[in-house]
Amino acid sequence: MLRLDRWLVTLGVGSRSEVQKLVRRGGVKVNGTTVTDPGKQVDESTASLQVQGQPLDGRLTRHVMLHKPAGLLTAARDKKQPTVMDLLPEAYAAIGCMPVGRLDKDTTGLLFLTTDGELNHRLLSPGRHVDKTYRAETDGALTQEHVDAFAVGLHLSDFDAQPAKLEIIGPDTGLVTVHEGKFHQVKRMFSAVGREVTALHRLSFGSLRLDETLPEGEWRELTEDEIAALYADAQMEVPT
Ligand code: URA
Repeated sequence: MLRLDRWLVTLGVGSRSEVQKLVRRGGVKVNGTTVTDPGKQVDESTASLQVQGQPLDGRLTRHVMLHKPAGLLTAARDKKQPTVMDLLPEAYAAIGCMPVGRLDKDTTGLLFLTTDGELNHRLLSPGRHVDKTYRAETDGALTQEHVDAFAVGLHLSDFDAQPAKLEIIGPDTGLVTVHEGKFHQVKRMFSAVGREVTALHRLSFGSLRLDETLPEGEWRELTEDEIAALYADAQMEVPT
């Protein structure tokens, strides 16, 4: 339960004073009935909302899979450049739906976003880092030597990358599974073995697989099974 005005502010409808005016003027219906008391307690998990005659989805919890295209920053907001948040409805940012980890601007593929800050934090915390799989195209042939070098771990300038799995799926293309999530990690690992990554695409993040039917630039909410699996990855109970 929460106050109607607080719910509307959190959903990005307006400032506290704006939504209070709106409610007093009769602009808001809860479960089909006009409510004029901004302080009325409502059950945000079940109540339906209408604002100025338009239905408004009032859920405060979202878990989203985005097929990231190249050219967007993975950030909540940037003054100069477009971000992945530009692909979602504005209300999602208002309720705190945030990317979990980062993909480089030119990386495509699976990005998971959630309103659950604890889930976000746990999936990224070093002790619990989940596996991430990428398809990497490189500027030269991949060989068993590269596979072996990835398998033992690589010495980079500022850290030692843990062992990672590299599977060669084409002359210049590999599937890489890493456990860590350091800045430019995959590109730097290839660089360390003499190959530059020319295209990088993320296929999975923990239990979550990129939905092959989701076109680049599109997103969808996770299914219940996908949500349950990610909470299990984070060793958390799914909140009720
Ligand atoms: N590793 C990289 O180098 N870039 C990414 O976007 C993700 C992992």
